[in-house]
Amino acid sequence: MIPDKDKEELRVRSIRNGSVIDHITAGNALNVLRILGITGTTTAIVSVVMNVPSKRLAFGQKDIVKIEDRELVPAEVDKIALIAPQATINIIRDYEVVQKKSVVLPDLITHVVRCPNLNCISNSAEPIYSKFRVLDSFVLRCGYCESIIDSDIATYLI
Ligand code: CTP
Ligand code: ZN
Repeated sequence: MIPDKDKEELRVRSIRNGSVIDHITAGNALNVLRILGITGTTTAIVSVVMNVPSKRLAFGQKDIVKIEDRELVPAEVDKIALIAPQATINIIRDYEVVQKKSVVLPDLITHVVRCPNLNCISNSAEPIYSKFRVLDSFVLRCGYCESIIDSDIATYLI
């Protein structure tokens, strides 16, 4: 018989060095990877866990992403707050959690979401990055045309 604790380890083992993004709103692990620019061609060792039990999160489920040998910096992780406001970022060194941080929603989000207005200059061939002011945790306003995104932010991720 495998003890319960070890069964958890079989599902997703501890990492030696890198970053663990924990408490991701269930269903958003792939969106987190997208925001971090991690695609199918990555050479990093990445573990993705979806819909595991969580006492803390709504509906009792969460996603987890573990990226080995890469320490995420605040500017990149804070974008995660857009879709997973309760996420915590753990930096791991030699198996120890040396830093644990909540994500903080930035005032300005650049080059992460696409403007819903097809006529917006940020959607043209111009070399312009999309830019959104964060009005509220889930309300964004385009810095060019003032279009508002107030639902389904994940569907506008670049
Ligand atoms: N973790 C890991 N590898 C390590 C250390 C920790 O993958 N060497 C993961 C754990 O599995 C957990 C997260 O990093 O998902 C945070 O670890 P820890 O702080 O030990 O867990 P908790 O106390 O449960 O975290 P919290 O208080 O944030 O819920
Ligand atoms: Zn716009």
